[in-house]
Amino acid sequence: MIHYQHVWKSFDQPVLAGVDLEVATGEMFALFGPSGTGKSVLLKTTIGLITPDRGDVSVAGISVHRAGREALEEVRKKVGYVFQNAALFDSQNVFGNVTMGLPEDELRRLSNREVARRVWESLELVNLEPHAVLSKIPAELSGGMRKRVGIARAIVGRPEVLLWDEPTTGLDPVNTAAVERLIKRLSDDLEVTSLLVTHDVEGGLLMCDRVAMLDGGVVRFCGTPDEFHACPDPLVQAFIHREAAEAALSSIAAVS
Ligand SMILES: Nc1ncnc2c1ncn2[C@@H]1O[C@H](COP(=O)(O)OP(=O)(O)OP(=O)(O)O)[C@@H](O)[C@H]1O
Ligand SMILES: [Mg+2]
Repeated sequence: MIHYQHVWKSFDQPVLAGVDLEVATGEMFALFGPSGTGKSVLLKTTIGLITPDRGDVSVAGISVHRAGREALEEVRKKVGYVFQNAALFDSQNVFGNVTMGLPEDELRRLSNREVARRVWESLELVNLEPHAVLSKIPAELSGGMRKRVGIARAIVGRPEVLLWDEPTTGLDPVNTAAVERLIKRLSDDLEVTSLLVTHDVEGGLLMCDRVAMLDGGVVRFCGTPDEFHACPDPLVQAFIHREAAEAALSSIAAVS
C-alpha cells in the first residue's frame, strides 16, 4: 500500500539516505528511531508535503512525486495524517477543524447536513461527545482532547491509509494507553493501513504487525516485534534500552 523506494532527502545535512520500506495493505506498522532521524520527514514525503531529492514514494500504486498534481490529490484523498502536535487551527472551533479533513471535492458534493453527520461520526469514533465539543476552540480543550480532534480530522475523509506522527507523545500513561487502544480499534474497524511513528516502543511492539527502525538515514531494522526484540544489532538493542528508560522517566514525570 505504501512503498518508499530509495528515498533521499537533505536539508543542511543529509537526513534520509536511501530509505526502502514497504507497508502492506491492512497492516499496522510502527516506525521507530532516535529523535531527529527523519521519521516525520519520511511521513511528509508520503503526501507530498516534502519532496525527496531522489527516489519516490507510492501509495496504492500511485507515484506521489512523479505522477503530477492530480495524482497527488488522489493520494491525499486516500491518506489521513495525524500530525505530531495535533496542528489544529487556533481560531477555528472543533467543527471547523474536523471539516478541514474532508477533501475539497467531497466538501462541494456533500450537503451541509451530510458534512455535519460525518464530523459528528468522526468525533464519536474518537470517543469525544460531539455536542459538548463541536463549538469549542482548541484552547478550551485538554491536550488529550486536542489529539483526539486531530485524529477525528484525519479519519473524517474515510481514508484507506492513516499516518500517525507520535500520537501519544506528551500524554500521561492513562491517556497514552487510551489513545493506543483507539488507534488499534480504528485501524481494525475502518480496515485501514496504519503507519505509526512513536517513541512508545513497548506500545508499538504490542500493537503492530511489523516494525522498522530508522537510523543514520536508512532502515536499520525491519521485521516482526519478536524479531526486533531478538535482533543482535547493538544499535537496535541500545535503542530499545534507551527508549524503555526514557519511557519510565517520562511516566514518573507525568504522574508527579
Ligand atoms: N522543512 C525542513 N527544513 C529544514 N530542515 C528540516 C525540515 N524538516 C525537518 N528538517 C530537519 O530534518 C531532520 C529530521 O527531522 P524530523 O522532524 O523528521 O525528525 P524526527 O525523526 O521526526 O524527530 P522527532 O522524533 O524528534 O520527532 C532534523 O534535523 C530537522 O531539523
Ligand atoms: Mg517527528
